[in-house]
Amino acid sequence: MNTATQNLEKDHVHILRLIDVMEHITQIEDPEINHLEDIVGIIRNFADGLHHAKEETIFFPLLAERGFSSTQGPVAVMLHEHEEGRNYVKGMAENISLFKSGSKQALIEVFRNMNGYAVLLRNHIAKENNILFKMADNVLSESDHINLLERFAETDENHVNTDSSNDYPLQIQSLVSHYNL
Ligand SMILES: [Fe+2]
Ligand SMILES: [Fe+2]
Repeated sequence: MNTATQNLEKDHVHILRLIDVMEHITQIEDPEINHLEDIVGIIRNFADGLHHAKEETIFFPLLAERGFSSTQGPVAVMLHEHEEGRNYVKGMAENISLFKSGSKQALIEVFRNMNGYAVLLRNHIAKENNILFKMADNVLSESDHINLLERFAETDENHVNTDSSNDYPLQIQSLVSHYNL
């Protein structure tokens, strides 16, 4: 049976590929601004708008019902890290605008925020995959997983991949291919 935690881990695979791209781009002296903007869009719509929304509005609340605290312990740490991630993305977006208006210094800030996000999310995903999801699998029943998967599917449908412009895994893959990663 497919489990809810496997579904979330599948999203992580795509997010980690995007992080590979981000880390690569921070080594480039004259990066393509379009790609920087694409990355912000993919994070806001997919990593945060879809994946973190699934965790925050569906998965973590069920864990709370099964006894996990949402104010301390692993779920609270995960929520805090999602917020830290949003701050890095805000820093990226603001400095991309400044860079486009001619500030060379802003590119350093774009890269600093990209690298901060990359380190944060790599650690975050490792903690979810290796610790939180294993704890969750110990307390969730088969019907919990089925219920979660149904609700995840509804969320996925709101991001329905009717055309390639909102197929985020495909967008990530095309960046990966562009940079031969
Ligand atoms: Fe998370
Ligand atoms: Fe996650």
